[in-house]
Amino acid sequence: MLKGKRIIVTGSARGMGEATLNAYVQAGADVVGMDITDDAGRSISKKANKTGPGKCSYIHVDVSDKSSVDDSFLKAVEILGGLDVLAHPAAIQRASDASNVSVEDWDLMFSVNVKGTMLTNQIAYKYMKESGGGSIINFGSISGLRPEPSASAYSAAKGAVHSWTRTASGTWGKDNIRVNAILPAMATPMYYAARERSTEEENIAAHWRNNVSISLGQEYGNPEKDLAPVMVFFASDSSRFITGQLIPVDGGQTAGL
Ligand SMILES: NC(=O)c1ccc[n+]([C@@H]2O[C@H](COP(=O)([O-])OP(=O)(O)OC[C@H]3O[C@@H](n4cnc5c(N)ncnc54)[C@H](O)[C@@H]3O)[C@@H](O)[C@H]2O)c1
Repeated sequence: MLKGKRIIVTGSARGMGEATLNAYVQAGADVVGMDITDDAGRSISKKANKTGPGKCSYIHVDVSDKSSVDDSFLKAVEILGGLDVLAHPAAIQRASDASNVSVEDWDLMFSVNVKGTMLTNQIAYKYMKESGGGSIINFGSISGLRPEPSASAYSAAKGAVHSWTRTASGTWGKDNIRVNAILPAMATPMYYAARERSTEEENIAAHWRNNVSISLGQEYGNPEKDLAPVMVFFASDSSRFITGQLIPVDGGQTAGL
């Protein structure tokens, strides 16, 4: 389904990035995985390349650093021979209270999650324009739609990703480049890390707030089964008339907002 597509996946060392990279290679695409965590990133790409039928390699990136993004994308485009798709799950999450969130935490969240989205999207746009079009798939969050008392900076940053996604789609549509954002609810290392740093009381509250609203099973999704097929659809020409959208892939979690 993706034979001939040239794709970069950020955050490919684990979680949704890993599931996305594997699905793209299995669908026949040529893929470059990128992450800041090199050992896992390299071994995931190596394994995917062996399994095929698509091809896969790995390049280090820090998405919050312009020169790292520019260098890595240049190398990737040289390997791929152009660029058709950017899947951009790379992000971080930290707990923070609106009353006392520190400037350091605020800057970190905006640097990786918002600046990282702008930098990767901007350079992808440049290469996709040369290819005659493309698809950029960002990652927003239900946290960017609703009050998020336990993660104020993350929530604000994801709201900014939503706005950026709409603006980029409106600006680049004339170049046949579509930009959408997935709003997932998936059981990944980020999800388990949030549970681990919470008290039992907070986890019970989170269960009632987050899991109970997932009408399809009341559990966070499986990245391979529940997210990867959607990522393949947004990388494929089947989604050619969809842009500027925030797409919840969350078992119904946002339906009650
Ligand atoms: N897990 C969920 O339920 C959930 C819910 C809402 C939104 N999201 C969003 O979905 C996306 C994927 O989340 P996940 O759960 O797979 O996360 P994850 O933490 O499991 O994986 C994120 C990956 O990004 C990489 N990364 C972090 N900082 C980086 C940087 N500066 N440069 C390059 N790579 C970097 C990490 O090394 C990691 O491999 C994120 O944007 C997240 O905010 C997740």
